[in-house]
Amino acid sequence: GKNVGILAMDIYFPPACVQQESLEAFDGASKGKYTIGLGQDCMAFCTELEDVISMSLTVVTSLLEKYQIDPKQIGRLEVGSETVIDKSKSIKTWLMNIFEEYGNTDIEGVDSTNACYGGTAALFNCVNWVESSSWDGRYGLVVCTDSAVYAEGPARPTGGAAAIAMLIGPNAPIAFESKYRGTHMSHVYDFYKPVLASEYPVVDGKLSQTCYLMALDSCYNRYCSKYEKFEGKPFSISDADSFVFHSPYNKLVQKSFSRLYFNDFLRQSSHVDGNAKAKLEPFANLTGDESYQNRDLEKAAQQVSKHLYDEKVQPSTLMPKQVGNMYTASLYAALASVIHNKYDTLGGQRIVMFSYGSGLASSMFSFKLNDGQHPFSLSNIASVLNVAEKLEARHEFTPEKFIETMKLMEHRYGAKDFVTTKDTSLLSPGTFYLTHVDAMYRRFYAKK
Ligand code: ACO
Repeated sequence: GKNVGILAMDIYFPPACVQQESLEAFDGASKGKYTIGLGQDCMAFCTELEDVISMSLTVVTSLLEKYQIDPKQIGRLEVGSETVIDKSKSIKTWLMNIFEEYGNTDIEGVDSTNACYGGTAALFNCVNWVESSSWDGRYGLVVCTDSAVYAEGPARPTGGAAAIAMLIGPNAPIAFESKYRGTHMSHVYDFYKPVLASEYPVVDGKLSQTCYLMALDSCYNRYCSKYEKFEGKPFSISDADSFVFHSPYNKLVQKSFSRLYFNDFLRQSSHVDGNAKAKLEPFANLTGDESYQNRDLEKAAQQVSKHLYDEKVQPSTLMPKQVGNMYTASLYAALASVIHNKYDTLGGQRIVMFSYGSGLASSMFSFKLNDGQHPFSLSNIASVLNVAEKLEARHEFTPEKFIETMKLMEHRYGAKDFVTTKDTSLLSPGTFYLTHVDAMYRRFYAKK
């Protein structure tokens, strides 16, 4: 197939959310720490009614309905997630409920896990399948689903929750430029989940920031050399219209883009003008390690690249700022934000993506966009995503209510023999929710 990529998308995030401004005050943090310091506006979370399985059931059902896809036409289904509900049974197998009803059990793929990278692994698997000799002509479907929750402390405001579904096939409006992939993988303990009885990760926050930026540099260098090899000219940020980053919190995205700009300066890209050169020159001879810790460099690079950030990055930041870190779904929610904001001008443009999962696994890759044909058109994807309305329809919890929910969820994690509340009033029609877990730990869901 030609132009293999994303044909259709849908996103679901829980209606429950807490404003970062009120959380910041409640936590006794200095004013502006979460909103300006981390760059976050609001954070979604699952109440006892929702989890990564219910969210993925909701989003897959919705995508199939809205784009009128016959469930028999799905030949591969891959899930990316780092939220462990079962150490053996794939989230994918729960989703088979949807397809078995239509007599389709002939669907390859299981779950992929490595922190926030699992969704990208799932996406690469589906794209590779469609491009391979074992492709049977049917669609691939990628699901990224996560609930990001942290223990009390500085990481707590960087949570979030969402599920995204992406239909994969040829002649896609969001087509992969498969040749230009750059990957960097390495063994580090920056963020990991060794405590199997808890949903919370162990995080070395500072190390995770540095690892993210080092991985970004490495992937960018590899992406650039692949591009140069095939195009016969160097790549720079002026060759792409949008840069979409995995977004644990917006401040890191701001730093990441300015880091790419600094890379272009070091690589002597022609778009870096005299003024920017003068501002960055003092940092030209820092070692890699020094450059990650240098606050003046961070400031200077952000200052000289600000106008490009506004143009090439800002449109991707809507959902990551409003919903929070969605782990595997975070990068693709950022992509969905670009489509929401710019669908009518994206034809012919290039979008560069950076995926990062602690531990660590990271890749940079790119899409070439075209308007596409109904139902697989950018404008239809934007209308199915329905981002503004979904954000608007949410219900704000007080910080007290949020903390109470976190406590209940800690208690429920890994538990058996319980029923959930009968009050589903916050959920919109069509949403799946958890009704009970029986004495054998079997989980049961219903659709509102
Ligand atoms: N007004 C404005 N800005 C403020 C204020 C204020 N009142 N107070 C603090 N800040 C700024 C700080 O200067 C800093 O910004 P800077 O880096 O530009 O200087 C920022 O707010 C964060 O504050 P810190 O004190 O540096 O860090 P904190 O202890 O709050 O921890 C961290 C932040 C490490 C991101 C934490 O939330 C965390 O561990 N999160 C989870 C790990 C994570 O997401 N890592 C990213 C990659 S891995 C992944 O995706 C999971």
